[in-house]
Amino acid sequence: MTTRVTRRDVLAALSSIGVLNSLPAAAGADAALPQRAIPGSGEKLPIVGLGSTKPVRAIETDGTGPIESVMRMLMNYGGRVVDTSPRPAELDTKFGRVLQRPEFRDELFVCAKVKTTGRDEGIAQIEQTQRLFGRDPLDLLQIESLIDLETHWPTLRALQEAGKVRYIGVTVAHERLYETLEAFMRRESPDFVQLNYSVMEPTAEDRLLPLAEELGVAILVNGPFMNGEYFGRVSEQALPDWAAEFDCESWAQFSLKYILAHPAVTCVLTETTRPRHMEDNLRAGIGRLPDAATKRRMREFALTL
Ligand SMILES: NC(=O)c1ccc[n+]([C@@H]2O[C@H](COP(=O)([O-])OP(=O)(O)OC[C@H]3O[C@@H](n4cnc5c(N)ncnc54)[C@H](OP(=O)(O)O)[C@@H]3O)[C@@H](O)[C@H]2O)c1
Repeated sequence: MTTRVTRRDVLAALSSIGVLNSLPAAAGADAALPQRAIPGSGEKLPIVGLGSTKPVRAIETDGTGPIESVMRMLMNYGGRVVDTSPRPAELDTKFGRVLQRPEFRDELFVCAKVKTTGRDEGIAQIEQTQRLFGRDPLDLLQIESLIDLETHWPTLRALQEAGKVRYIGVTVAHERLYETLEAFMRRESPDFVQLNYSVMEPTAEDRLLPLAEELGVAILVNGPFMNGEYFGRVSEQALPDWAAEFDCESWAQFSLKYILAHPAVTCVLTETTRPRHMEDNLRAGIGRLPDAATKRRMREFALTL
């Protein structure tokens, strides 16, 4: 019997002996992303991932080329995490074919979501995602924006027990859901929570991120650039000189390094259709991160933008 050694196996082995950051990741990348452990299992994930909403939508107009290029860039730096949300079947069929290509299939940690109301509708949507993405088990299944939370959560628990899903969790992308999320976290202690957090939207660090650390919940961050609004606010400004003190090369990295400096954060999802933006974002994970005093300074500075 032959055993296929994947790129992920090699990176995990290098990481475990502590040399990952000093070695080239792959052609084009001069370093690989650090990894952080999922608290509940110890499994490690690279700290920058891809949010696929925009590049999957772009399949309609531009085909699968952009998302393939972005995912290759992600993997060049040892990235693996790809967040998804159910799209019309025609789009997810095309995206699913990409995810099943050998170059991606065995490397990626694919996060899926259920986003509908009703028990049977939820099950049908999850089964469709699983079929179109060709992933059994799914790495992570999340209830998007807490939609019909109490109906879907028992389904997710049952799927996990049956081995159809490895990890389960929920997502929010707005502060108005924080109270419900906090109560849910305290009650159910999910494997993962995905939430919005950034230098311009730092509220999650008041209660939710400390709670995740206390409960041992893995955190995925969405909205690092407030769906692009952040760039509108910083575009006229020069990056402050002191950003170089934590190896920050761009405005994108300014927000991402702020996020990654929080110890509760497992991985930040960045959404892009452009490989050079993906690379910019991946490089935020490499090098120094701001300390607590610098984070305060970054927050104060962001308020002026
Ligand atoms: N409720 C939920 O579960 C929920 C809600 C929202 C988001 N999410 C997840 O989070 C992911 C991130 O979504 P988001 O809406 O929060 O987006 P975001 O990552 O905050 O911002 C994306 C926007 O920033 C631009 N961008 C990305 N990198 C850049 C760079 N280095 N320089 C300049 N521009 C850059 C992208 O345009 P280009 O294409 O030009 O790079 C895109 O327009 C989503 O894909 C999804 O997976 C989940």
